[in-house]
Amino acid sequence: MPEKEPIGVIGVGWVGLCTAACFAELGHDVVARDILPDKVESLRRGEVPIHEPGLPELVRSNADRLRFTTSMDEVLERARLLFCCVDTPPTYSGDADLSRVETVVDELGDSTEHAIVMKSTVPVGTGRSIRRRHEGLGYVSNPEFLKEGTAVKDFMAPDRVVIGAADDAGAFAERVAALYEPLGAPVVRTDVASAEMIKLASNAFLATKISFINEIANVSEELGADVTEVARGMGLDDRIGSRFLRAGIGYGGSCFPKDVSALKQLAGNSGYHFQLLTAVIEVNELQKRRTVGKLKKHLGSLVGREIALLGIAFKPDTDDVREATSLVLAARLQGEGAGVRVYDPVAAGNASGMLGGARDCASALEALDGAHGAVLVTEWPEFAELDWAGDVLARMANPLVVDGRNFLDREALRDAGFDYEGIGR
Ligand code: UGA
Repeated sequence: MPEKEPIGVIGVGWVGLCTAACFAELGHDVVARDILPDKVESLRRGEVPIHEPGLPELVRSNADRLRFTTSMDEVLERARLLFCCVDTPPTYSGDADLSRVETVVDELGDSTEHAIVMKSTVPVGTGRSIRRRHEGLGYVSNPEFLKEGTAVKDFMAPDRVVIGAADDAGAFAERVAALYEPLGAPVVRTDVASAEMIKLASNAFLATKISFINEIANVSEELGADVTEVARGMGLDDRIGSRFLRAGIGYGGSCFPKDVSALKQLAGNSGYHFQLLTAVIEVNELQKRRTVGKLKKHLGSLVGREIALLGIAFKPDTDDVREATSLVLAARLQGEGAGVRVYDPVAAGNASGMLGGARDCASALEALDGAHGAVLVTEWPEFAELDWAGDVLARMANPLVVDGRNFLDREALRDAGFDYEGIGR
C-alpha cells in the first residue's frame, strides 16, 4: 500500500469538493466522482462552481492529486475508502431522501474490500438500516462540521473528528482515523447511531443558541437592555461561550433549518414530541418577519415605499441562498405593497426567480438610491465601508436603516441623521 491511502469521493457538491481538495492537500491521491458529466468536465479544467474562500486555490495547487470522473468503476479500482458526499434533501414528509445514498451503496455491490464513509448528513438509524440490507458492508459514519465560507479552515483545524463504526468495521474506522491524524484534533470514536446523532444534535444546539439569543434580543428591546452587551456578559461564562450568540434576523442556510426539522421529525417518528425544537423553529420564522414591523414603525404603511435589501446570501462569504432571510423578507415586503431592490456581491445569480418582482441592483448604492428604508440582511464587509454619512444619506429618499445583524456603526449612523433600528438594542 502506498504511504498515503488513496481516497474516493462520491458526489462532488460543496461537501464533496471540500473533502476531496483538503485530502489532496494532505497528500492523498483523490478520485472524485459525480454523475453530472458537465460538472466533471469543468472541474477537470480547474473551474470551481461554488464560492468558497481558499477552495479554488486548493483545487488548482493539488491538480496532480485530484482526479474527477463520472465512472464508479474507476473509483472502486483506485480507492478503498469511499467518502459518500451526495445530498439528502428533505422529502414532503420531512424525512430525508436517501435515494442517492442507496444508489451509491448498490453500486458498491458486495465488495468486502471497500468501505462507505458517510459524510452526508443522514437521519439517526441510517447506517444501521443500510447494513441490515447489505450485510458485511464496510460502513463508517464520519459527519462533517464545516461552515460555508470557512470550510477549508474548518477542515484543516477541526474542533473534533467523529468516527462511528460497528465493531466488525473497526479496521476501516482505524484507517479513517489515520487520515485525520496530521490534523491533531480530538477523535470521538463511537458507534454509528451516536455519530449520526452528534451531527444533528450539534446543529440543533447551535440553532437553539441563536433562537435563544434572538428571544433575549426581542425582550431586551421591550425592557431597554442591549443584547450585544448581554451576549458579551453571558459569553464570558465558559459554560456558555461567546460564539453563536449574535442576535439577528434569523438563521438560514442549507443545514440548520433542514437538520433541526429532521431531528424534530425523527423524534416524532419514534413517538417523542421534541418541544424545544418546535419553539426554536417557530422563533426563527417569526424573527425573519419582525423587520417588517420595524420598517412600519417609522414609515407607517409600506404601500408604494421602496425598500433596499443589502445582502441576499444567508450569511457572508457564501453565494448560498437556501433558506435565506432575504427571500422571506422580499416576499413579505412585496406582500405589504412595497417595492424591493436587492444587492449582493455574489449571490444574486443563485436567487434569480426567488425574489418575486424585486429589482436586482449592480451595487449597494444603486439599491439605496431613492429608497425609503434599507435593511442590512447579510453582514458583507463592504456594507460597513459604504459612505453612509455622505453618499448614502444623500441618495436615500428617507434615512432609515434596519441593521439586521447589529453590524453597522450605530452611533455614527445616528450622528449622521439616520433613524437606526438594530436587533435587541
Ligand atoms: C452549519 C454548522 O455551523 C456547521 O458546523 C455544519 O457543518 C453545517 O451547518 C452543516 O451541517 O453542513 P453553515 O450552515 O455553513 O454551518 O452556517 P453557520 O455559520 O453555522 O451559520 C448558520 C446561520 O446562523 C447563518 O444564517 C448565520 O447568519 C446564523 N447565525 C450564526 C446567527 O444568526 N447568529 C450567530 O451567532 C451565528
